[in-house]
Amino acid sequence: MNIKRACVIGWPVSHSRSPLIHGYWLGKYGILGSYDRHAVPPGEVKEFLASLGDQGYLGCNVTLPHKETVFDLVNIADEPTRRLGVVNTVFSRNGELWGTSTDGEGFLASVEAAVDGWTVGGRNIMLLGAGGAARAIAGTLVARGAAQVQVANRTLERAESLRNDFGKRITPLAWEAAPQALAELDLLINTTSLGMTGQPPLQIDLARLPGATVVADIVYVPLETAFLRSARERGNRTVGGLGMLLHQAVRGFELWFGTKPDVTPDLYEFIAESIEKGYRTT
Ligand code: ATR
Repeated sequence: MNIKRACVIGWPVSHSRSPLIHGYWLGKYGILGSYDRHAVPPGEVKEFLASLGDQGYLGCNVTLPHKETVFDLVNIADEPTRRLGVVNTVFSRNGELWGTSTDGEGFLASVEAAVDGWTVGGRNIMLLGAGGAARAIAGTLVARGAAQVQVANRTLERAESLRNDFGKRITPLAWEAAPQALAELDLLINTTSLGMTGQPPLQIDLARLPGATVVADIVYVPLETAFLRSARERGNRTVGGLGMLLHQAVRGFELWFGTKPDVTPDLYEFIAESIEKGYRTT
């Protein structure tokens, strides 16, 4: 019998939780398959991809720092990914390699799953940060009909370049101006690395934020950042970054292994436990 195989490539790659996630689903759905990790140095990405099929792989995930390199090496599967310029999921079709980015859709799915009935159409949204993660999320939010996406970033030019790439519904904002601009928001998202274990905390005055605004963080180590905790303590609905990590993996699994997997509380607990020992949902 044929074993279906996929992997993740990165440099380094040891921190990747993708093998745990895909391994969990392979077991749950009884699929004869494997999901490996490969540390691939920057100079060897092209060679690795060229030999992907010969190594028996149906595709791979791509993590830092290879997402842009791989974009240039494969066929791009969809227009949003073309605009984005990065690929995190590679799959083979008819002997060719194709790539897509699942981060933006993964983020959105995590919010939709966490907040009953939430839809992005017509929403006012603010992103804190304008790096790679912000680009993926902003592109999806605009494509899916958000009314306005304000992007507050320490380096204003990066927020402006998001407007150039994704259009007028993106409004660049100086980092310091963010607290004043919270009053009309439906969704506030931290896409910076601030608040991650080992990084400085994200400090922003939330006094003007409406109680009904959903607050999300893409950081998932720790599972609940101080930023999310302070939003939760003032009564806002919050969405942690682990949901995005789980939901962005769905598309790859479906492409390689042929089953669309569910993101369940059990999976959440399994991965959460690997991040913070002793973690339990309450
Ligand atoms: P990623 O691909 O994970 O988004 P990145 O491209 O390095 O990573 O982006 C990191 C984001 O965190 C950027 O928006 C960065 O702001 P700059 O564009 O000004 O660098 C933001 N960030 C990191 N450290 C920060 C800090 N101390 N204060 C404010 N923003 C910070």
